[in-house]
Amino acid sequence: MSWQDKLRQVQPYIAGEQPRIQNLIKLNTNENPYHPGIKVKEAIQRFDASKLSLYPRPDADELRQALADYHHVSEQQIFIGNGSDEVLALLFLTCFNGEAPVLFPDISYSFYPVYCDLYQIPYQKIPLNEQFEIVKEDYYQENSGIIFPNPNAPTGLCVSLHMIEDILKHNQESIVVIDEAYVDFGGESAVSLIEQYPNLLITQTFSKFRSLAGIRLGVAIGSQEVIARLYDVKNSFNSYPIDSLAQVIGLASMQDSDYIQDNAQKIIATREYTKKQLKKLGFEMPDSKANFLFIKHPHYDAQTLFEKLRERGILVRYFHQPRIEQYLRVTIGTQQQMEIFIEEMKKILEEEI
Ligand SMILES: Cc1ncc(COP(=O)(O)O)c(C=O)c1O
Repeated sequence: MSWQDKLRQVQPYIAGEQPRIQNLIKLNTNENPYHPGIKVKEAIQRFDASKLSLYPRPDADELRQALADYHHVSEQQIFIGNGSDEVLALLFLTCFNGEAPVLFPDISYSFYPVYCDLYQIPYQKIPLNEQFEIVKEDYYQENSGIIFPNPNAPTGLCVSLHMIEDILKHNQESIVVIDEAYVDFGGESAVSLIEQYPNLLITQTFSKFRSLAGIRLGVAIGSQEVIARLYDVKNSFNSYPIDSLAQVIGLASMQDSDYIQDNAQKIIATREYTKKQLKKLGFEMPDSKANFLFIKHPHYDAQTLFEKLRERGILVRYFHQPRIEQYLRVTIGTQQQMEIFIEEMKKILEEEI
């Protein structure tokens, strides 16, 4: 066997582009258009660089306590990782160890099958219905775990807590993960169900609601038992995933939640405005409760629209994927950015492409 044969070959997740183009209206990776806040800025200015010669606190305990207080759970029910992508990577390794497949929707966060392939975990994609909704009964079958985002990505559609509870009741022998990356833009968090369902695990992120995609902080909230196992796996992989500066910034953000909530309200208002304007232009879309819209025009090809927008300095996300190749995912930016987006889209449609 050659050394080349000994290399692991995987199909990696392909993240949305991060181009260095000036004045680009960047609506392609669901980032928050608003500043992370004055408290974050001051915390960075106060940060003592001499601290960087020491390793950070391995479990980011002050931030962990702040998150516990925010979610009304104990510190032992909080896990913090280097972005929720890392939290997801560790939880797939920790929680999904049976022989039956892990279940997730066919249209969902495209990192899930990548983790399964990486760890050689069997999985089954469960088709969403025609309206892109999750059908709970499809998850009443043997499995090694269940995961889906709520709101789902890239559709933005939410399921009710009632439905999550039904799925939990039918899956008491599996870990059920709800990925709440976008929950603060209009969804309902399932954290309140954790006490009753110790097999429920919730992930959240600082990247969207808290405008901190650049700092890489992700969270899992669950029963003490599951969280302790996650820490065991994390400590078998990397003792210090959260650097000292990220811990300070995360804590400052937790102390500025009112400001951050106001930004979320602005994004929600802009989302509803954008929905209305796009509908006037003939676009169709699910009723997103996230910071993005998933849009389709009955008469215009999505990839062509994507390219025309790019030529005009507006970047959205296009997926070459069955069932959704005629859709674009558009992140909600500031009100001003979305007004420009609508104006440019109008011009493109008028060009009769
Ligand atoms: C559904 C979903 N989950 C998790 C993530 C990962 O977020 P992060 O690693 O920035 O915390 C994303 C990122 O876009 C996402 O869309």
